[in-house]
Amino acid sequence: MTTVRTAVFPVAGLGTRFLPATKSIPKELLPIVDRPLIQYAVDEARAVGIENLIFVTGRGKGAIEDHFDISYELETTLAERNKTSELEELRRLRPGPGQVAYVRQMQPLGLGHAVWCARHLIGNEPFAVLLADELILADTPPLADMIAIHAETQGNVVLVDEVPMESTNNYGIIRPGVETNASIEITSVVEKPDPADAPSNLAIIGRYILEPTIMDILGTTAQGTGGEIQLTDALLASISDTPFHAVRMTGERYDCGSKLGFIEATLHLALRREDLGEDVQLMIDGLAQREN
Ligand code: UTP
Repeated sequence: MTTVRTAVFPVAGLGTRFLPATKSIPKELLPIVDRPLIQYAVDEARAVGIENLIFVTGRGKGAIEDHFDISYELETTLAERNKTSELEELRRLRPGPGQVAYVRQMQPLGLGHAVWCARHLIGNEPFAVLLADELILADTPPLADMIAIHAETQGNVVLVDEVPMESTNNYGIIRPGVETNASIEITSVVEKPDPADAPSNLAIIGRYILEPTIMDILGTTAQGTGGEIQLTDALLASISDTPFHAVRMTGERYDCGSKLGFIEATLHLALRREDLGEDVQLMIDGLAQREN
């Protein structure tokens, strides 16, 4: 059984839905309460035993590298001021030396192209892809189930969630085949179909376990929807010789690439925090009264 040791985090997108905030701040560093989106994704990968983290970055994304590096000045100052818990938290969240690698996409030509840019770092092993703007919270990340299905099928595995039929044109949508308790066979995928053409309402949502053979296909995949090289197109092209399955989403998911999803995640996580929850609830009630 091959375990999945490496995760790719594509973080080179322009984040146009969050302009002007994302003009100089990477979308992936926008915080939900006090933790950047990318940190949640990295924690999720490490929680399922993934050790090697590859970031596909672009211009203006250097702050992501700083985020996962040691900040000597900050840490020295925290130590001098006896801010022990803050210091320990920073150290706990930081991957170890040599566990992180960065590669530049140079041009934001789409998710498929971003993944392909990591090909030399991946080599000949299966790997995970995590999109940080899909924030997933679960006691056991669904990535663990996906890795188990990959071990069984030796094929490509994606995470899917049911979405409202009217929003199929925002996602890659699968055509489901046989479903078992653990997974759904995928017979086809359509990128961003109109609701009338959508083969189901099961959307691929930002977590993938991929066979390394996908890299060869990505290398020859033409630009698709929106002029971008789509990962979905490459997955579809590999369907004839690589098993392809979906795992259903478990836990909670927030689409933090959209403003509404981002605000929902912020409110929900703040409400849950012991140090903030009650005050945030009072604040929301007060705001609601003021607006009525
Ligand atoms: P999105 O489709 O959300 O695109 O990418 P985006 O550019 O980040 O945001 P909008 O739509 O303009 O607001 C999903 C993930 O894929 C990465 C993004 O950084 C994000 O994490 N991505 C996308 C790349 O790394 N390269 C690309 O060319 C496109």
